[in-house]
Parts: sequence; structure tokens; C-alpha cells
Amino acid sequence: MSDTPPSTIVVRPGPPLQGVVPIAGAKNAVLKLLAATTLAEGRFVLRNVPDIADVAWMGELLEAMGMRVDRPRAGELVVDRPAVIVPEAPYELVEKTRASIVVLGPLLARCGVARVSLPGGDDFGPRPIDMHLRALEALGATIDVAHGMLEARATRLRGARIVLEFPSVGATENTLMAAVLARGTTTIENAAREPEIVDLAEFLVRMGARIRGAGTSTVEIEGVDELVAADHTLVPDRIEAATYLAATAVAGGEVVLGGARADHMDLLLRKVEQMGVSAVACSEGVRVVAPERLRAVDVSTLPYPGLATDYKPLLVASLAVADGVAIVTENIFAGRFRYVDELVRMGADIRTEGHHAVVRGRERLSGARVRAHDIRAGAALVVAGLRAEGETVVADAHHIDRGYERFIDKLTALGASVERR
Ligand code: UD1
Repeated sequence: MSDTPPSTIVVRPGPPLQGVVPIAGAKNAVLKLLAATTLAEGRFVLRNVPDIADVAWMGELLEAMGMRVDRPRAGELVVDRPAVIVPEAPYELVEKTRASIVVLGPLLARCGVARVSLPGGDDFGPRPIDMHLRALEALGATIDVAHGMLEARATRLRGARIVLEFPSVGATENTLMAAVLARGTTTIENAAREPEIVDLAEFLVRMGARIRGAGTSTVEIEGVDELVAADHTLVPDRIEAATYLAATAVAGGEVVLGGARADHMDLLLRKVEQMGVSAVACSEGVRVVAPERLRAVDVSTLPYPGLATDYKPLLVASLAVADGVAIVTENIFAGRFRYVDELVRMGADIRTEGHHAVVRGRERLSGARVRAHDIRAGAALVVAGLRAEGETVVADAHHIDRGYERFIDKLTALGASVERR
């Protein structure tokens, strides 16, 4: 999948969306669970795994370490971890999916050494890892950086009290996966509370780890001497679900987000309700019914249970066609507004100032050639195209494939006019 050529997605406005769209397992959970498979020898079976480029690259990374990754059937991934692996993550693979930095903690804990290329920035700004490193040092690791490579060492990590400066998802995960094999008890204060962290903790517990409080701000880990391989079914992807929710809100219609967990999307569902969308839990997942016209509401991103930064491009695209003026504030990643220039090319009335954007809704947008700079920005441009006159041509659509399986198929099954060129 890494050799997939850049592609283009063409969108035209169409009828209201109708039907059930199946929601895959969470990208932001599976990448971390794959990192956790380095912690124990044996065969792991993961279910509800999305067929996306990021998973393929994480698989390549595990294979580069000497592990085996197979996809025997759709949605299932089997990982074989031999007794000995090479605890190293090279630049070519870390650079493709920056979430792979979370191999640092488990490799260090299990192998006593980890060499991981520094991740660098990405399309929405720098991705610092200082909190990850301070936490691992507090657990007894020695860390050196030379030639763009991080080397962490420790004969055996020891439990410690760690207070994160910010509830960073990645730092919480790296610390958690290191502490499970440390001697003694580790407490992570101000831990991130995302559903994907709860999923990772549940997987680690199946592997024999002792963890309390995952999903709250204080996570307590009692280190064990050894872990074993385990099976696990992933939580549904709340960001993928939010994407089809936004598509329905913008195009109109009634769609069921099959398998989505309303309890993982609480604040988002309340927000879209203020915009006039009905989004309620049902036996199949979440039922979404769009209004004639969306209403503008202010939006501010925050760590979970606040509104995820990943929802924001989708919300901005929705607000661009809502009735009224909205102020959108980004509190997680400073530079995450690049896609706004692309929406403006489509006739959206949006002004950004620092980490704020003022969105003045328009009845319709106007189809144009635009460029996807990252996964969610790309998806948001496609969503915007559903209410833009004429043709919207989204270039660099390979970014979308990093995070969405069968994106075009799922949208066309709902009646959208979308094709890949
Ligand atoms: C973040 C999002 C996550 C999203 C993912 C991919 C949050 C809290 N996290 O996860 O929901 O799925 O991006 O888009 O919204 N930071 C540091 N030093 C560190 C680690 C982080 O300064 O060592 C800063 C980051 O620059 C950022 C904030 O902390 O401003 C949150 O980072 P973090 O939660 O770690 O980001 P991701 O794990 O990448």
C-alpha cells in the first residue's frame, strides 16, 4: 500500500444520503495495539481491524523487527512475535506513520533497549515527544539522541509517579506500555482519557498486565514480570463515524453509523444537535437525521472528553454551509488550519487568526480543485464537495487512504456522487 500512487477524488453534489454505513475499528487504537504486540512472544489475533495504509505501514515496521503480520480474512490481523526481535524503528517507517513512536516504551520495557528514529513534524505542525521521553526517564531509562535516532536503554524499568504536563495521548500510551513490565507500581497523573487508551489498557490486561483507572486522569499500573499473547476486538473508530455524520449533515439525509458508540462521541453528538442534526444511539449504532439547513455553533477542541481535534476539519466544512457565524478554536495543535485555504477556494467564507477561525456560513459552496494535506483535512474537503456546485477535485487523496477503508465505496453506497480518478 505504501507504493500507492497519488490519487484524486472527484465529488459532485447529489441526493440526500440514505442507508447504513459500517464503521471500522479505530485507527488510533489499532496502531497502539500493534506496538503492544512487541511486549510478548506468541500469536496475537486482532479483529475489527481497518484496511488502511497506516495499518499496513505499522505492519511493515513490525516485520522489519522480525515479526510476522498476516491478514487471513477481512478485518482480522494475526501477529506472530518470535522470542527475539530487533528493537529498532527506522526513519522510512516512522516518517510514514508518526503514531509509530509508541513502539519506544514497549520495546524498551521488553528488550532493555529501543532505537527509534525521531518522528519530525507532519502536515499540521511539529509533533514533540518531550513528555514521552521525560516519563520514560522517570521510569529509569537513559536516552541518547544521535544522527536523528533515539536510543533508550534500561536493564529493568522501575515504577514511578509520573505527572504529565498535558494529557497527551501518545505520552500516556508510551508510558503505559513501558510501565506494564516495570518493577513496582507506576502512577500516571493527568493521563489522556480517550476511548482508544481504554482499548489499549484492556488489551494489555488480556496480556496479563495489571492496570487500574484507564479512561480516567489517574492510571495505576502494577508491573509484572512477563506478558503473554492475546486476542482482541477493536473499538469502533469515532473519527470515521464522525466523518459520515458530517457527510450526512452537509449532504442531507438519514444515515445509520453501523456499530458506532454514541458514548464515545458524547460531546460531538451534543454539538451537532445544536446545529440541528438529530444524532441518537440506536440498536445498530447511531442514527443521524440531517435538517434542511445546519445552524452555526461555536466549536473548541480539547482533550477527551472534549471535542477531538480530528473532528475539527469536518465541523469546519459543515459550518461553512451552516446558517450563521461560528468561531472555531483549536487548542491541541497550533497549525491545524491549513485546509481552510482549500475550503476558501471552494467559496467558503472563513478567516483564521492564530488558533481561531471565524466561519460565515454560505448556502452552498462552489466546486474547485483542492488538495488534501492530511487525513482528516482530505475527508473534510470531500464532505464539503457534497454541497458544492459542480465538480470538486481533491488531489493527494492518498492521505485519506491512511485513515479510511473503502472511503469511496462507503460514500457511494449511501448515494453520494464520489469517484476516484
Ligand atoms: C493527537 C490527538 C488525538 C488525535 C491524534 C491524531 C489530543 C489530545 N490528541 O494525538 O486525539 O487522534 O493527535 O491527530 O487531541 N505534546 C508535547 N509534547 C509531547 C507530546 C505532546 O508538547 O511529548 C503536545 C502536542 O504538540 C499537542 C498536544 O501535546 O499540542 C497533544 O499531543 P498528543 O495527545 O500526544 O498527540 P497525539 O498522541 O499525536
